[in-house]
Amino acid sequence: MSKKGTIKVEGVSKVYPNGVVGLDNINLDIEAGEFVVIVGLSGAGKSTLLRAINRLHDVTDGHILIDGEDITKASGKELRMLRRNIAMIFQNYNLVKRSTVARNVLSGRVGYYPTWQSTLGLFTKEDQDRAVKSLERVNLLDKYYTKARDLSGGQQQRVGIARALMQEPAVFLADEPVSGLDPKTTKVVMDDLKRLNEEDGLTIVANLHSMELAMDYATRIVGLKAGKLVYDKPIAEVQASDFQDIYAEVGDQ
Ligand SMILES: Nc1ncnc2c1ncn2[C@@H]1O[C@H](COP(=O)(O)OP(=O)(O)O)[C@@H](O)[C@H]1O
Ligand SMILES: [Mg+2]
Repeated sequence: MSKKGTIKVEGVSKVYPNGVVGLDNINLDIEAGEFVVIVGLSGAGKSTLLRAINRLHDVTDGHILIDGEDITKASGKELRMLRRNIAMIFQNYNLVKRSTVARNVLSGRVGYYPTWQSTLGLFTKEDQDRAVKSLERVNLLDKYYTKARDLSGGQQQRVGIARALMQEPAVFLADEPVSGLDPKTTKVVMDDLKRLNEEDGLTIVANLHSMELAMDYATRIVGLKAGKLVYDKPIAEVQASDFQDIYAEVGDQ
């Protein structure tokens, strides 16, 4: 499969087992190389959408195509191959805190190894070189042997980015990657994402709750509200006043 990084979301709904509607008939066509920021109130469905895109959970209805292949229906080897192309970083970084930065970064490569080999931590020289390069790209090579727990939050998130890069992904999903970080650190992390987007043509889909940040980094802004897609515009057409609607509590209007 050629990696481009297009994402097509077709009529996707997600109803959680307890009956909560996480997503309600979402349609979204994302081209390779876009930097899409998803905005919306807490509970709007942003995380649910990202988790559906990499199949961290199943959808109830609809399809999600990654470069034309349906990840909602894939299983086994096909699913593993599709998932390699989709990297994710998380609000809480999800690093193994007692492990070194190098170890954490190398673990991003496990999708390319049989389980027994990755369990033993037997990474090839090539992948160790790849880890060095990934850390260079987020400017943290000097932390190679540092334990993850000894890094600041911003540094941990950038290790998360370096780990994600090890997958050589076409799509990069970021779920509130900078909440909890101070403005200066936020800028460093967001600039890292922007650089990868521009230099590698990575498609980025990031959930953010700061409108200002969305305006600064996105090429396109998508708004969710109570599981529905209520807004979708390229950055050139976005106006600050548009957000009153997205951020109005359901039932306000
Ligand atoms: N595992 C779950 N079980 C039941 N409901 C959930 C679960 N995860 C999320 N939800 C609900 O789905 C809706 C969307 O949640 P979420 O995608 O986390 O929103 P956001 O990321 O925009 O804050 C919310 O009403 C939330 O409470
Ligand atoms: Mg969320």
